[in-house]
Amino acid sequence: MATDDATSNVQHTVTPSTAEVSISSVMTEKRKFPPPADFALNAHVSSMAEYEKLYAAAEADPDAYWGGIAEKFHWFKKWDSVLEWNSPYAKWFKGGKTNICYNALDVHVNSWRKNKAAIIWEGEEGDERVLTYGELHRQVSKFANVLKIAGIKPGDRVAIYMGMVPELIIAVLACARVGAVHNVIFAGFSAHAITERVNDSRARMVICADGTRRRGGSINLKNIVDEAIVNTPSIRSVIVLKVTNEEVHMHNGMDHWWHDLMGLAADECEPAELDAEHPLFVLYTSGSTGKPKGILHTTAGYMIHAASSFKYVFDIKDEDIYFCTADVGWITGHTYMAYGPLLCGATMLMYEGAPNYPQWDRFWDIINRHKVTILYTAPTAIRAFIRAGNEWVTKHNLSSLRLLGTVGEPINPEAWMWYHKVVGQGRCPIVDTWWQTETGGIMVSPLPGATPTKPGTATRPLPGIAVDVVHKDGTPCVANEGGYLVIKKPWPSMLRTIYGDNDRYEKTYWSDFNDMYFTGDGARKDEDGYIWIMGRVDDVVNVSGHRLGTSEVESALVSHEAVAEAAVVSRPDELKGNALVAFVTLKDEYVGDMTLREALRNHVAKEIGPIAKPDEIRWAKGLPKTRSGKIMRRLLRELATSNEIKGDVTTLEDFGVLENLRDQEND
Ligand code: WTA
Repeated sequence: MATDDATSNVQHTVTPSTAEVSISSVMTEKRKFPPPADFALNAHVSSMAEYEKLYAAAEADPDAYWGGIAEKFHWFKKWDSVLEWNSPYAKWFKGGKTNICYNALDVHVNSWRKNKAAIIWEGEEGDERVLTYGELHRQVSKFANVLKIAGIKPGDRVAIYMGMVPELIIAVLACARVGAVHNVIFAGFSAHAITERVNDSRARMVICADGTRRRGGSINLKNIVDEAIVNTPSIRSVIVLKVTNEEVHMHNGMDHWWHDLMGLAADECEPAELDAEHPLFVLYTSGSTGKPKGILHTTAGYMIHAASSFKYVFDIKDEDIYFCTADVGWITGHTYMAYGPLLCGATMLMYEGAPNYPQWDRFWDIINRHKVTILYTAPTAIRAFIRAGNEWVTKHNLSSLRLLGTVGEPINPEAWMWYHKVVGQGRCPIVDTWWQTETGGIMVSPLPGATPTKPGTATRPLPGIAVDVVHKDGTPCVANEGGYLVIKKPWPSMLRTIYGDNDRYEKTYWSDFNDMYFTGDGARKDEDGYIWIMGRVDDVVNVSGHRLGTSEVESALVSHEAVAEAAVVSRPDELKGNALVAFVTLKDEYVGDMTLREALRNHVAKEIGPIAKPDEIRWAKGLPKTRSGKIMRRLLRELATSNEIKGDVTTLEDFGVLENLRDQEND
């Protein structure tokens, strides 16, 4: 299927006139994969011509495009205007009244989908549950009544802190049903992180579980909540779901068991008729500095883009079993593990636990047993699977898979090729989806039946989405020139503000480029208009006057057969201004020594050019990552510069990784 499978080629293409203001891109990946003919035949969008037509129509008349999609949903009252834009504040579908939970459940319960599986859940220990749309609707209605009885009113914030069990989605949807604003806090976060988020959003209630299963053991979540809410005056009550039978302390008057309250609740609950701009959720995302930002999303615009992007990007059909490995505690879990699939009436597979429990083949075993057709995961997981070895994958029958997706970080072309060949067996298109917590839904991605893909690029923006790559002064970059990724027009699922902090909203996203949203990412657009993300601009390194996106140097390293993962940072250097330091994790069968170090440096010189040759290569057993799997280059920068870490490490997943890096001898 590849037009040129043999060329993994990265070259040096500096743009002299703008080298000081833009970012030099050094990668030119030549491989191209057209959508398989049989896939295109049955796809929702089945050719580039069709995509171009949709894109042009949406660009010419955005109101008609988004309004047309919105008409397919249930409204208690139709909107007066599609968009009211007072830069940088948007009101979508003003005057309209709807309910996202009604659209995600009742609409299907009133159709043949009533008895269709909504959620197929698999616990870490292998236990299984299937919730049909009818049953999910019943549980959500009951829990919505529980919230009402507990005094939760439209607009009240509710914090949710539980592992990956169906009740997490039930709690989210019940909030939406009554108009409460959910604030899901990832179950790996500490008591301090909960306190900070609950106080910032002034949440009235916490919904949690007694515990969550993790790699054969369990973590007591209720104890963490107890510790957190000592300092949260706004919390009135805590609802506790029994999952692991941990020993927990139930405080009189404050704490209630989920099953006790559900036992009393009626199973019918009228959905609240909410304004289109009614707040739906706050989700906290950490910036590189400062306290976490509470990203606020609202009802109708989010609903419309979540559903339509899900339908087109994943080409969803009623027969599909869709498996997204993201936790509901992240935006990917909100949009593509909860709302998007349910709004489309899809069947999704929800897995409770770790990808390597009990062994490294858990995902592949799940896919084989449940006949999963679509897999959506992250580059960090893909790189971990590569490291663990192909045999974990190939021993399972993955012939049910028809589409693969990735999100969260730039995917290195070699990791893309591995995903394509070993998991997709050369048969499945890959959708590399670029988006952010702030964008609410996918912005740049192939449409799998239409867009020819190239390893390492998220390709073209979805219809209705206007992205561009610009210089610091806002003027567009030419093809293949690196610059800043911006969004030029408001879109329905855009964040509305940072909760309680309009100033920070304006400053963070709208002050760098006149009337354009700044994503914080560096990128280049190639001659086909494909967007290549070069990573966060904070991570850009300056080498001999050229600003290089770290992800390109990392991809060059990962294209060497010995390398599983790499992170590249710069440190000040007396002679050169800046020196490049690469932290490299090797595949299990390789040993880091001087010879390999030299080989890797030469490999980068060959792939990119001598300019990008790392001055120093450090072997790393693991790299420091956020809990959602992104490499924390900021910490590596500190380590490379001073061999110690002083910055904020609260979002770090595994502290042991840092200790290992610090202790290692740097020969
Ligand atoms: C990065 C996750 C390259 C990017 C949905 C973005 C990506 C940040 C991709 C948002 C991708 C996400 N290719 N980079 N396909 N997807 N990113 O808020 O830097 O957790 O700005 O949202 O992740 O991360 P967030």
